[in-house]
Amino acid sequence: MKAYRIHEFGGLDGLRLDELPTPTPGPGQVLVRVQAVSLNYRDLLVLKGLYNKNFPRPAVPLSDAAGEVVEVGAGVTRVRVGDRVAPIFMQAWLAGELNETHGKSALGGAIDGVLAEFLVLHENGLVVLPDHLSFEEGSTLPCAAVTAWNALFAAGTLKAGDTILTLGTGGVSLFALQFAKLAGATVIATSSTDEKLQRVLNMGAAAGINSQATPDWEKRVRALTNGRGVDLVVEVGGAGTLSKSLHAVRTAGQISLIGVLAGGAAEINILPIVMRAIEVRGILVGSRAMFEVMNRAIRVHELRPVIDRVFPFQETPAAFRHMESAAHFGKIVIRL
Ligand SMILES: NC(=O)c1ccc[n+]([C@@H]2O[C@H](COP(=O)([O-])OP(=O)(O)OC[C@H]3O[C@@H](n4cnc5c(N)ncnc54)[C@H](OP(=O)(O)O)[C@@H]3O)[C@@H](O)[C@H]2O)c1
Repeated sequence: MKAYRIHEFGGLDGLRLDELPTPTPGPGQVLVRVQAVSLNYRDLLVLKGLYNKNFPRPAVPLSDAAGEVVEVGAGVTRVRVGDRVAPIFMQAWLAGELNETHGKSALGGAIDGVLAEFLVLHENGLVVLPDHLSFEEGSTLPCAAVTAWNALFAAGTLKAGDTILTLGTGGVSLFALQFAKLAGATVIATSSTDEKLQRVLNMGAAAGINSQATPDWEKRVRALTNGRGVDLVVEVGGAGTLSKSLHAVRTAGQISLIGVLAGGAAEINILPIVMRAIEVRGILVGSRAMFEVMNRAIRVHELRPVIDRVFPFQETPAAFRHMESAAHFGKIVIRL
């Protein structure tokens, strides 16, 4: 089978298309023919060696895929040949709280990922996809969608009538917008361009703020909520935007801290967190149980993920370059 592997960290020069033996499933394992994979910002960081330089190499990158079960090993009961499935991001986090060992089972990082024609995974590390989704759409769920779901409904306690703030129009933010809408919440979104803002308004956001034209967008968020602030911020900017998010959130509101798009380290005044009893909670994707509850909601509402562009497998480097350009709106998918 063909698989892309990272031989050296640093960039696309270290990524090569290799010929590897097609794996066979052992007891409890499942062979999946991969039909589509999707990119996350993390995959770019991993490729550049900015995520964790101690990850093993050569290594198959990417965590998110969708495919078809083509063979099962002895004793497999959770899936059958022909099922349409997606892997869970951390193969060992099935339910309950995150613990220290779960992170060591993350695909496309600590262990080989999914940018390959075939995958062998334990049956526990898969979920069945909602029927109405194509493989391309299904491949967008394992990281970005589960992260947004956790941010709003597992770590977060979003309710109908609440207001959330999303930052930018990447994969996590657009899933958060879609999930918040289906839960009856109001969404205020920021983006760097008016064109992307128009698209989030078309998707049901109540208000959009151009973060370039309005650098103090946190004040605008306050004004839009009659001075109260939003109930929850889906914080993908990180250290570079956290101070603004602390201003934009209401007293005793929640910040789901997810990303580092605007940097991972900065001096932050923690007084607002204390004096306004703000709950700042780190999010690391989510468990299989969260993925399955999310899939139920996706089925009921026939929700369709937003796909920016689909690249052929041979053009994988171009897909990475497209992500780096930040010109995308929604998910970047590669079709095998
Ligand atoms: N903790 C977790 O479990 C977890 C899971 C998934 C992702 N993440 C992290 O969350 C972040 C977003 O991931 P993603 O996959 O959704 O990314 P993505 O699809 O690449 O989204 C990037 C978008 O965010 C906006 N953006 C770029 N720089 C920004 C900045 N400085 N401040 C605010 N917005 C900015 C831009 O949208 P506009 O042009 O519209 O502004 C850009 O198109 C990344 O840092 C990623 O590593 C964490």
